[in-house]
Amino acid sequence: MHDDRDEKPAGAHRHRHPHGHGPAPLRVSGLTVRYSDGTAALRDVSIDIKAGEKVALIGANGAGKTSLFLSLVGILRPDAGTIIVGDVPVDKDHLLTVRRKIGLVFQNPDDQLFMPRIYDDIAFGPRNFGHTEAEVREKVEAVLEALGAAHLATRSSLKLSGGEKRVCAIASVLVMQPRLLLFDEPTAFLDMKAKARFMEILGGLGQTRIIATHDPALAAAVSDRVIVLEGGSVTDDGPAAEVLARQKFA
Ligand SMILES: Nc1ncnc2c1ncn2[C@@H]1O[C@H](COP(=O)(O)OP(=O)(O)O)[C@@H](O)[C@H]1O
Ligand SMILES: [Mg+2]
Repeated sequence: MHDDRDEKPAGAHRHRHPHGHGPAPLRVSGLTVRYSDGTAALRDVSIDIKAGEKVALIGANGAGKTSLFLSLVGILRPDAGTIIVGDVPVDKDHLLTVRRKIGLVFQNPDDQLFMPRIYDDIAFGPRNFGHTEAEVREKVEAVLEALGAAHLATRSSLKLSGGEKRVCAIASVLVMQPRLLLFDEPTAFLDMKAKARFMEILGGLGQTRIIATHDPALAAAVSDRVIVLEGGSVTDDGPAAEVLARQKFA
């Protein structure tokens, strides 16, 4: 697959690569995040993710997975450390650019879907980025088609099943064609069938991605690298099979 070594400097020929396998998708160094009540959610976390890597971020409840994702998209501000996405630092001056590059699928689809119709939920991003209504329609229809969810366009998220909501939340992120995808506990609350469908969708995605999960079986099935987070620190990081084996016998 395409990697970043033969990429031109920032900006050159970017249109040829809609998923933009440009400079290393993600560099996190020394990231420390505290909540206002003093809880240290992340302590000195350093992670580099290369173009095309399929990563699972595993860790118990409270390990810091969601805090890491919220930091990566600039919702949480770090107390120390730096985050660079592609060639852009995640800070308040670059939030718009950062959000074109990273797509976060929230743990709870209800945080992502808030319009009266699914169509408008998915159109929300493209409309915000100034596309014409005709371009928006084309993008929304294409992504729904690709995810096998065209029949949901006119429905309200309030009346969808958990699995259907998840697919629509994924569509609302994919429609922006981010180069880095973050999924926060994507299979929580999904039944077997919806989980299988989700894994099938993942199989069709070429983008660099990180999936936060506490399900080692999911991590093993869909990732080639596993990062372990414990109490806000990275305690292991490497090839999926090796890291998962260490986890089991630790
Ligand atoms: N809004 C918040 N205010 C204070 N502490 C929080 C908040 N959200 C999460 N935390 C704490 O931060 C730590 C990391 O939480 P989180 O990132 O949600 O972990 P995970 O997603 O791995 O379950 C936990 O100790 C959690 O209790
Ligand atoms: Mg979480």
